[in-house]
Amino acid sequence: MVDVSVVPEQRASWSGKLGFVLAAAGSAVGLGTIWRFPYLAAHYGGGTFIFVFFIFMLTLGVSLLVLEISLGRKTGESIIVAFTSFGKKYRFIGVFIAAVPFVIASFYGVVGGWVTRYMFAYAAGMTKELADGGENFGAFISDAPQSVAFMLLFGAITFIIVALGVNGGVERANLIMMPALILVSLLIGIYTLTQPGALEGLKYFVVPDFSKFSLELLIAALGQTFFGLSLAAATMVTYGSYMKKDVSITSSAFQTTATTLGISLLAGLMIIPATFATLGSADEVAKNSGPSLMFLVIPKVFEKFGGIATVIGFVFFLLVMFAALTSMISLVEACVSILQDTLEWKRRQALLVTVIVLSVTGIIVTLGYSSLSFIQPLGAGSTILDLLDFLTSSVMMPLGGLLMCLFFGWIRQPKVLIDEVRLSGEFKSAGLWSVMIKYIAPILLVAIFITSVLKTFGVISF
Ligand code: TRP
Repeated sequence: MVDVSVVPEQRASWSGKLGFVLAAAGSAVGLGTIWRFPYLAAHYGGGTFIFVFFIFMLTLGVSLLVLEISLGRKTGESIIVAFTSFGKKYRFIGVFIAAVPFVIASFYGVVGGWVTRYMFAYAAGMTKELADGGENFGAFISDAPQSVAFMLLFGAITFIIVALGVNGGVERANLIMMPALILVSLLIGIYTLTQPGALEGLKYFVVPDFSKFSLELLIAALGQTFFGLSLAAATMVTYGSYMKKDVSITSSAFQTTATTLGISLLAGLMIIPATFATLGSADEVAKNSGPSLMFLVIPKVFEKFGGIATVIGFVFFLLVMFAALTSMISLVEACVSILQDTLEWKRRQALLVTVIVLSVTGIIVTLGYSSLSFIQPLGAGSTILDLLDFLTSSVMMPLGGLLMCLFFGWIRQPKVLIDEVRLSGEFKSAGLWSVMIKYIAPILLVAIFITSVLKTFGVISF
């Protein structure tokens, strides 16, 4: 009898370009796009922020995406083995970045659980209760058993999809959820625009007012580019490692970025004009534009719609759940592929360990709002989730991005990756790309890193 256990598992691959782009866009479009982008845009003066964000996405964002995808495809490995393949002493870069998806997934699943709960609550007709301005939300997140249950439910759906494999699970889930997401955001966007007062909000959202420009805005837009495109977190390297050699990397990276930008704009259209109409002025929108926007303000906005509020609320949170799921899937897939490639584990074993680790860390983060709420790592009122969010978005991701740029800009030459990109088509802007990787990206990254750390520790303020 043949012992199947010694036959190495063959690396999976996307069935084609569409499979890759939908999966990459699925990873990119998530809570960051639908919840974080609109509140940042509202906070930083609407059109001005959007203008800067566009520029970053289409320059730095696309460039780093090309870097990560080509690194994954060239080596056919996830981040740790990918860097080790350039020499044992570079392994640490891979290890550092490999920690990121584990940390992000630990808190991403918690917010995913909140979204899942809102979807069910709308389905149960709790439209009024959800619009009570925060009491209901506060009671929910501090109710340990209930919030842990929803986090685990959201996690379980993710794990099942990942368990079904790259093609049968991840690719297929994206193929269904991504088009649904685009369609529904278009519908809700158009509907909210027809509401009284919404056009005023639309103007605020699209017309740039350059007097609103600030250093802080610049940093926020850069941070959103990273988080929004799932950069410097091992995810895109893993997705690149499943890409076939004949699929164009440049056009895939561009399409992924364009899709993310498009859905960001749609999310803004869904949220900003409606919030504007409900709250009355740009100042009020900006004041209410923190993370609570989605869970406290949006239900109030929907409640104003009258009888249709329950349906809109349900569909909206279903859509946000889809977006969050496709991102969570990419995070879990990254974790699984790292364990699989680095430790030479079987996929099943890697998934099992990932499930156990993330369930435990997810529970700890969830309890940060109840029994562990005495842990306030970033000052009074802050939570474990805030710490992990800060650690990844403001420290580890910019630092990881910097390490990758320095490595391929200086330790090795950009040509290593340019050759890989050229395997599947032209790369006309290779020269510009090299300048980006060697000079522009490192300078910008050092700038955001220093400024955001100083700001968090209160050394500077703006
Ligand atoms: N990009 C996703 C969002 O906008 C989140 C995400 C998925 C992510 N994978 C990531 C963020 C990797 C950073 C790194 O919600």
